[in-house]
Amino acid sequence: MDSKQIREKYIKFFVERGHKVIAAAKLVPENDSSTLFTSSGMQPLVPYLLGQAHPSGKRLVDSQPSFRAEDIEEVGDSRHTTYFEMLGNWSLGDYFKKEQLPWIWEFLTQELKLPKEKLYVTVFEGGNGVPKDIESFEIWKSLGVLEEHILFHGVSENWWSRSGAPDKMPAGEIGGPDSEVFYDFGNNNLLEIGNSVFIEYQKQDDGSLKELAQKNVDFGGGLERITAAVVSSPDVFQTDIYEPLLKKIEEVTGVKYADGKDKMQVIADHLRAAEALIADGVIPSNKLQGYVLRRLLRRSAVKLHLLNPKADLSSIASEKIVKDEIEKFGKTLDRGLKEIEKINQIDGKAAFDLYQTFGFPYEVTEELFRQKGQEINREQFREEFEKHKELSRTASSGMFKGGLADQSEIVTKYHTATHLLHQALRDVLGSQVFQKGSNITSERLRFDFSFDRKMTDEEIKQVEDLVNKKIAEDLKVERKIVSLEEAKKMGAIGLFYEKYKDKVMVYAIGNYSKEICGGPHVSRTGVIGRIKITKEEAISSGIRRIRAQIVLK
Ligand code: ALA
Repeated sequence: MDSKQIREKYIKFFVERGHKVIAAAKLVPENDSSTLFTSSGMQPLVPYLLGQAHPSGKRLVDSQPSFRAEDIEEVGDSRHTTYFEMLGNWSLGDYFKKEQLPWIWEFLTQELKLPKEKLYVTVFEGGNGVPKDIESFEIWKSLGVLEEHILFHGVSENWWSRSGAPDKMPAGEIGGPDSEVFYDFGNNNLLEIGNSVFIEYQKQDDGSLKELAQKNVDFGGGLERITAAVVSSPDVFQTDIYEPLLKKIEEVTGVKYADGKDKMQVIADHLRAAEALIADGVIPSNKLQGYVLRRLLRRSAVKLHLLNPKADLSSIASEKIVKDEIEKFGKTLDRGLKEIEKINQIDGKAAFDLYQTFGFPYEVTEELFRQKGQEINREQFREEFEKHKELSRTASSGMFKGGLADQSEIVTKYHTATHLLHQALRDVLGSQVFQKGSNITSERLRFDFSFDRKMTDEEIKQVEDLVNKKIAEDLKVERKIVSLEEAKKMGAIGLFYEKYKDKVMVYAIGNYSKEICGGPHVSRTGVIGRIKITKEEAISSGIRRIRAQIVLK
């Protein structure tokens, strides 16, 4: 039996018991701004659980794609996924425990043929003024559940609301005691495969729980986990749902699943989630759902790189938006990881630089350092973030687009660094030095200049130090629009042959450099960080070439 058959059986089973199939909601809730994602089947049904009449009646069934961002870092343990399909059935003030529990038991043991020896159930033992659920206990017992397989738990385990236990529920939220079913894979490895919530209470302004006018049933069971139980695989990923994707990941990395399980689970889950989010209209960005999507994709790219630095994530993805996002991040990923290796002690500032220069989402950096036993101060990160936002607001060219580093932002930094380099070369080697060419990518700058011999190591170091000194001085970058004559008078360097032009743009970096240039540039040199000259060579007679990179330390 595969996942598709299980889904069909479930829907059919409840349709035969008077339920109407309802359409699944989108992953981005349409009429609920209190949350970013649809994370359970009941979420779109709250008004009906509160008493509003549902057009399809009082018995509903569906399979609801769900996304739980809070589980991102749990993925990799063989049982958690961020994205999953929740099989769900509801009673809107209609049937209650003595129908729901026997039906679920029948579905699991008769339809899916799960042996009862392998099933455990939990029941609410009472708390917060809500009594012990003796009725559910009696029902389970009458169904033939082994008595030692029925366990009682309190509010922390057997109470469900979208926010958790009763004390966590905000006023207005609904919830109630629940009864879960677990599958035992042996060796004390139990996996929750379904939960019947008896939604009977609403939190009041004074903190108390008030009984709802109607008693509801809200059942949810993860299709991925139920499938794992049916095929007896304690690893949720070793099911028909993930196998094709895992195979592709094995092919692309050349690593066997058994040797890279946790990372491959992350990649498989995150890519599947990403494709579902994109299908529902989310695109990678720096905000809200878009940021979560970006985080999923960038985290997958990091994991893939750790499995095999040459593997290309975009070749696994079939979705164009995924490919584009991965390619963009791929340009700085390798260097970002190398920078991370060099950092002895991470702090909020360095985490911000990684975010800003290499596009590493904060959470990804946090995870990489946590693995080395280091924690980052999030507050410090936030301060850097705010500081940067402040600086950027004053930038005339408005390069900063809400948070993450992007292509144009790093290129802009290199552009300003090139001006500093040009001036520094003239200071160290003499005014015969003049720009002959320049080429910038998101990974480096390349600068060609007139000079007739190899630079000494000492000269290279002097130039590098001088540029870094000017960066550290956090000089203001100003743009002036002047006539060519004035530009010359100002001592601006640059290409003066645009004689037909009436006015030219001059970028002044503090009092240090003045150059005719079209921009754009950063608004202050401090944001560049640091540069390192990685190569100096001849490209033709009388012309030298320098390559330099922006580094964090
Ligand atoms: N709404 C319940 C859950 O998400 C079924 O577990």
